[in-house]
Amino acid sequence: MNKDTFQGSRLLLLDFGSQYTQLIARRVRELNVYCEMHPYNHLPENLEDFSAVILSGSPYSVRSAEALHPDLSALKGKMPLLAVCYGAQYLAHFGGGEVAPSNIREYGRAHLTYIKPNEPLFEGIAEGSVVWMSHSDTIKQLPTGAVCLASTPDVVNAAYRIEGEETYAIQFHPEVTHSADGMKLLGNFLFKIAKLTPNWTSDNFVEMTVAQLKAQVGNEKVILGLSGGVDSTVAAVLLNKAIGKQLHCIFVNNGLLRKNEFENVLKQYEGMGLNVKGVDASARFLTALAGKTDPEEKRKIIGRVFIEVFDDEAHKITDAQWLAQGTIYPDVIESLSVKGPSATIKSHHNVGGLPDYMKLKVVEPLRMLFKDEVRRVGRSLGISDELLGRHPFPGPGLAIRILGDITAEKVTILQEVDAIFINALKENNLYDKVWQAGAILLPINSVGVMGDERTYERVVALRAVESIDGMTADWVDLPYKFLQKVSNDIINKVKGVNRVVYDISSKPPATIEWE
Ligand code: XMP
Repeated sequence: MNKDTFQGSRLLLLDFGSQYTQLIARRVRELNVYCEMHPYNHLPENLEDFSAVILSGSPYSVRSAEALHPDLSALKGKMPLLAVCYGAQYLAHFGGGEVAPSNIREYGRAHLTYIKPNEPLFEGIAEGSVVWMSHSDTIKQLPTGAVCLASTPDVVNAAYRIEGEETYAIQFHPEVTHSADGMKLLGNFLFKIAKLTPNWTSDNFVEMTVAQLKAQVGNEKVILGLSGGVDSTVAAVLLNKAIGKQLHCIFVNNGLLRKNEFENVLKQYEGMGLNVKGVDASARFLTALAGKTDPEEKRKIIGRVFIEVFDDEAHKITDAQWLAQGTIYPDVIESLSVKGPSATIKSHHNVGGLPDYMKLKVVEPLRMLFKDEVRRVGRSLGISDELLGRHPFPGPGLAIRILGDITAEKVTILQEVDAIFINALKENNLYDKVWQAGAILLPINSVGVMGDERTYERVVALRAVESIDGMTADWVDLPYKFLQKVSNDIINKVKGVNRVVYDISSKPPATIEWE
């Protein structure tokens, strides 16, 4: 990050492992303040660049043997600090107060009563405001030098501050939407107490990142693999703005993309002025996949062939020094997580990138952005809503939507089915209401009747889900009339298909993809 752009207005968020920590980061960013999340026990080396700190909640109890107990002497009393939930208990327990198990476990809504009126943290928030609690310990006695600011019917010390410091602590969670004035409270801390400047905007990010990329890359060449997805596209446009033709993009057709996707997207990329080479390697992928039915094996083959094709192309670009990747902030946070990287259920998400033998330096222009911020930056760069609003599409493409072995004929059938479904969603203004949609070719035939003939043809499943991040998902209640029309169109127009079913499983326990 360029040191100057957000100087004096960076917030440090220390993660004690709460499920809500990322949400705090997002809320702070929504208030246009630049925020970095770091594990509780690893303060950033450039601590002097931060002007305020928030301590997150935690699944641990401060009273337990495994309580997280970092040394915060470099922060507390030195800069404005807001401690949330575990953070508040932590300051009390290790600061001369007392934390004890609650008589009642307090989960859910509670109402605030002010003990000390006219506090800047609560400015503009009416007494009685609903706050969201989630804790089983309670602060019985405040730490040395603290004054109680607010209570709820069950929690005496729901908020306090430490005299002579800009240290505030709250037992409830302002980051969840159930805390009615949570954003106002966070804003009060950021702007009234910490006096930060709300300068984290897409335009500032673009300006800063372009300057930073120019300095980082100089006049060297960068290679980037475009996928048609939002992240790689935004990364490419940012780099293009910074270094122009020094950026060499490679867009590989693995033969498993949607109908006409390769040609259409390539044309759009060229129209955006990107220096892009389209490589049609369909035959190479299909040959390598022939006869393979195991989903993980299919994924691995596609990953391996992609690297081979990419490597062949990269070698044609002489003297390239850099490999650009579309890594985004949740991937970075995951790799630094207090709990360690979460278990992977499928071997996806391309983490780890390309093999070492490529020996390129890595540049990741989006590594500080959440997904919604990537879209906003894309918009500020003038990328079309059509490209930015595209549903996620898995790297192995239709290979994991053709259950069983893959042949060119099956790919064509699924492309036709998928195109009818996706186009119908668009024509009926349903596309943007769905997070991800697609069709799956099942490995069974079913009996049907067409005219006087008995048929024995393929079955396809349609899947449409709503989700925030793909971690959990629910099937979309698409109108019956719409499904009826799509089903008719598919069966009438796609030769070889005589039955359409709609997947009504949520994730968990199902997953979004079938393989
Ligand atoms: P699941 O099926 O795990 O999917 O519920 C969650 C999200 O991940 C995508 N997905 C993949 N993406 N390579 C990818 O790049 C893969 O192997 C892969 N498998 C699933 C899926 O499309 C959904 O958005």
